[in-house]
Amino acid sequence: MMSLLDILQFPDDRLRRVAAEVGVFDQALAKLAARMLETMYQSRGVGLAATQVDVHRRLFVADCADDGQPPEPLIFINPVILDARGQIESEEGCLSIPGVNDKVPRAQAVRVRAQNLAGDTFERSADGLLAVCIQHEIDHLDGKLFIDYLSPLKRQRIRKKLEKQARQPGSPGVAAR
Ligand code: NI
Repeated sequence: MMSLLDILQFPDDRLRRVAAEVGVFDQALAKLAARMLETMYQSRGVGLAATQVDVHRRLFVADCADDGQPPEPLIFINPVILDARGQIESEEGCLSIPGVNDKVPRAQAVRVRAQNLAGDTFERSADGLLAVCIQHEIDHLDGKLFIDYLSPLKRQRIRKKLEKQARQPGSPGVAAR
């Protein structure tokens, strides 16, 4: 089994870095994507951006298959949203902000262009959970977190809660979700 990657926890400043384009499609990139998928599955997440594992390159992995369905691991490299339609309130959480869930406004459907591990460009339309996931993960690559959509007061409360968790040794502060 490959080793898991450490996931940065809010309010770590490294979560605010803007990721750079991926230009080289080599074995190291494939290995990184595989380790990100493994880390995401072990953490029971549905998406993980490279930024969250302190790699500031534009890629993320996701699996938004419904419970009980076969896994559908997805890799998006240099993703760009071409078109966004509709509006929904989505209930979100984040592996970098454990124990916090809240509603944020998102587009209901998106069309995204990205590259695969071979560097080939593809386009794909998504709605529902996958559309939300794509928007959430691209935000990570731009140094943005879902709690940025909440009020400053709520964000301040979340920061205090997580800082307190981080100070308590052996606390479940890093429990994944
Ligand atoms: Ni996240």
